[in-house]
Amino acid sequence: MTKFYLTTAIDYVNGAPHIGHAYEKIQADVLVRHFRQRRDDVYFLTGTDEHGIKIQKTAASRGITPKELCDENAQKFKEAWAGLDISYDKLIRTTDKDHEAIVQKIFQKLKDNGDIYKHSYTGLYCSGCESFLNPRDLTEDGLCPDHLKKPEEVKEENYFFKLSKYKDRIIEHIKNNPEFIQPEFRANEVLNQLEHIEDISVSRSKESVNWGVPVADDDSQIIYVWIDALSNYITALGYDTENPSEMFKRYWPADVQVIGKDIMKFHAIYWPAFLMALDLPLPKTILAHGWITIDQTKMSKSLGNVIAPKDVMETFNLSQPDAFRYFMMVTAPSGKDGNYSDLDFKERVNADLANNIGNLLNRTLNMQVKYFDGEIKPEFITSSDNEIAKAAMQTVTLVKERFDKYEVAEAAQEIVNFSNIVNKYVNDTAPWGLAKEGKMQECANVLYNVLESMRFIAAMLAPYTPNISQDIYEQLNRTEKAVDVKLDNLKWGEIPAGKITEKEKIKPVFLRLDSEIAGAAKKA
Ligand code: ME8
Ligand code: MG
Repeated sequence: MTKFYLTTAIDYVNGAPHIGHAYEKIQADVLVRHFRQRRDDVYFLTGTDEHGIKIQKTAASRGITPKELCDENAQKFKEAWAGLDISYDKLIRTTDKDHEAIVQKIFQKLKDNGDIYKHSYTGLYCSGCESFLNPRDLTEDGLCPDHLKKPEEVKEENYFFKLSKYKDRIIEHIKNNPEFIQPEFRANEVLNQLEHIEDISVSRSKESVNWGVPVADDDSQIIYVWIDALSNYITALGYDTENPSEMFKRYWPADVQVIGKDIMKFHAIYWPAFLMALDLPLPKTILAHGWITIDQTKMSKSLGNVIAPKDVMETFNLSQPDAFRYFMMVTAPSGKDGNYSDLDFKERVNADLANNIGNLLNRTLNMQVKYFDGEIKPEFITSSDNEIAKAAMQTVTLVKERFDKYEVAEAAQEIVNFSNIVNKYVNDTAPWGLAKEGKMQECANVLYNVLESMRFIAAMLAPYTPNISQDIYEQLNRTEKAVDVKLDNLKWGEIPAGKITEKEKIKPVFLRLDSEIAGAAKKA
C-alpha cells in the first residue's frame, strides 16, 4: 500500500472565498487526483479556520455572533468547492467540537512537558496575520507589510511557547531534507527568519479575544489561533495525545501540505516545532504556492477587485469548472505568483482546450466516420513502435516526474506540448489528403494514432479537467472513467477494433468561449 496524505491551508471565514483561495484548493485537488491515478490510498483534507480576533471583529461589526458568521461563510466555502469539483475526503471546521477538545489536550501536553510558560509581554499584533509582528518587519510607516494595517499594541500576561528551544533542530531538518520546503528557493527565506526566532505567545487573555478555545486548566486564557489552526492537520485524523487513532497511524506524517507563501513561517517554523514538542514526525513536504493577482493588482476589498470563482463561471456561462480549473493551474509557474484576467482566461482555454484538444478530437472522429463509417478494423491499430506512440508514453513519464516534484503548471505544459506534437502530426500527414489519394490504410493508422493520443491526453489531463476528460472518454467509446485510469497501466493500442462512433454521437467536448457556437449554446 502506498498512501498519500495531502492537506491545504484552512481558510479564514471572515469573508467569502475568492479565486486566490480557489487557486490553492484546485492545486491541491489536481495533485490528489493525479496521485489517485498512481497510488492505492489517498486522503485529502481541507477545512476552514474559524476562531480568532479577526472573525470576532467581523462578526461584531455585522451585529451577529461569531458562530453565525462562521456558519454563514463556511457554507459559502463548501458551496464554492462543490462548484469547482474539489474532491476532498474531509472538510474540517475548527469549531468542530472534537477538534476543539483535542486542541485543549495538545496545549496541555505542551504545558505539562515544560514547553509552555507564563510571561508578561508587550507586542504589536496584526489581526490580519493573527500574529505578533516584530517592529523590524513593519513598513516605514509602521504598517503590517501584508495587510497594510497598523498593528495593535497588546500588553498582557500570556502563555509562551519555547520556540527558540527548537531552532537548531529545525534549521538542521531544513538543511538535511531538501524536499521539506518546496519550491526549494523558499528555504532560504525560512532560514533567514529562523535566525531571528524568539519564543512566541500562544494564548491571549479572554478580555482581548474571546472567540477561541480556552486553555483547559486556565479559562482566563484563549489558545492562540495558529496552534488551534495548525492542529487541524492531525486532529482531522483523530490524533489524540493518548491514543492516536488508526487513521492517524495510517496517514501521518502528511506527504504534502499545500499553503500560500504568506504563511510559510507558521508552517515551516511553528508547525515543525509544535510537532517536535509533541514528539511526532514532521510532514515530508511543505509546498508553498504564489499569489494570484487580478489584472496584475493585488485583490482587496478596498479596491473592490475581488473575484469569486462563481463570477468567472457566470461571466463565461460555464456549466463545468474545468476551464477555470485548467486556467488557474497554468497561469502561474510552480511556486510563483500568477495573474487572472478575463482575456487571458479566454485566450488560454480556447487555445488549449477548444482548439488543440477539443477540435482535434472532433475532426478526427468526423474523419473516422467519413472515411471508415466509424469503424476501426484490426489492421488500423498501430504498434507502439511509432513516433506518436513513443511521444505519448514519454509524456506520461514526464508528467509523472513533474508531479513527483509537485509542478502542476509544468505538468500541464508537458501535456499541451504533446497535443501540439499531435496537431502538427495531423497537419503534416494530412489524413484527408491520404484518403483522397486512396491511401486508406495509412489514413486509418494516422487517425488511430490521434485517437490513442487523445485517450492518453484525457487521462493525464483528468486531474485538471475531470468532466472534459470524461467527455473525451465517452467520445472514444470508453467504458472506464478517465479519472480512474491508473497511469502506470496506460498502454498503447488499447482502443479495440470495432465501431468507435457514428455521426450522431460526435459532440464537441469544449466550446470556444465567446464563439458563435458558444453563443448559440447559450441561447439554447
Ligand atoms: O492564512 N492567491 O487563511 P487565509 C493565492 N487561516 N492564494 C491566496 C490568496 C491569493 N490571492 N489569498 C489567500 C490563513 N490565499 C489561515 C491558514 S492553515 C493552518 C491556517 C491563500 O484565509 C493563503 O496563502 O488568509 C492561504 O494559504 C489560504 O489562501 C488561506 O488564507
Ligand atoms: Mg490571509
